[in-house]
Amino acid sequence: MDSMADINSPWVDPEVLSMPDNHPGLSDKDYVRRRRMFFYSAREHRLRKLPSPHFVYLDEETDLWQSVFKRLDDLHARHAARVYLDGRDALRIERRRIPNLGELDRTLQASTGVRLVPAEGLLHGKTYFELWADRVMPCTQFLRHASQPEYTPEPDAIHDIIGHVPPLMDDAYVQLIEVVGQMARQVDAERLEHLVRFYWFTIEFGLIEERGETRVLGAGILSSIGELEHAISNDVEIRPFELNNVLATGFDNTHLQSVLYKAGSLDEIIAAAEALRNRWKLA
Ligand SMILES: [Fe+2]
Repeated sequence: MDSMADINSPWVDPEVLSMPDNHPGLSDKDYVRRRRMFFYSAREHRLRKLPSPHFVYLDEETDLWQSVFKRLDDLHARHAARVYLDGRDALRIERRRIPNLGELDRTLQASTGVRLVPAEGLLHGKTYFELWADRVMPCTQFLRHASQPEYTPEPDAIHDIIGHVPPLMDDAYVQLIEVVGQMARQVDAERLEHLVRFYWFTIEFGLIEERGETRVLGAGILSSIGELEHAISNDVEIRPFELNNVLATGFDNTHLQSVLYKAGSLDEIIAAAEALRNRWKLA
């Protein structure tokens, strides 16, 4: 898949790809070129609804995956929610190698019916959530820049595959993303903003209680060494999950999170999503 033909695909406007100004890989020409190849390929496959492309990862990409995975793995064993750990094991997402989307997709489809589609980068919120209504999860395949293994200004394979994909093996969790997706299809911009807050404090940064312990559900925490260490420190304010408070709480995605919400269980979060749908009188 790593060919110039993909880079020069007529399918997309080359100007569409922009890396944020603070991207650590901006001055690394080889990285920018490879990031561009992933971008074109993912965008074309997503928009033309083609099967996920298969990538052969470079040694340095696998090294980066392995070093981040090793550090996260120790923290996951102690702090991740059961629904996450079970899904990760069942999908055989492991330190050894970066999985391709096709193999994860096959296992997910046979289990919960979720499909993975390649994402070229951060998708617009509405586009991203609306896919969830059809049990489709957009997923990036490129990796962050190796100079900053703990930081990425955009979602990458470490965030998406390690953070978001594992709980998709669980029917209840999939019900949650489906309800959020269904709501996203029907709401106006103001309600979408509230829905984003709900997603942020659950799917992205949520905590739940399991057997009297605080466990991490959110992909943004589970895919980030910094956020994980921060979430279990005394520097973060953990509030009990309450729908109205969650909807009233803003967030800053450029810094470590200062406020997190902890629900009694995944079921409590799903019930809150259903309550929101009823409150807004949505189908
Ligand atoms: Fe995310």
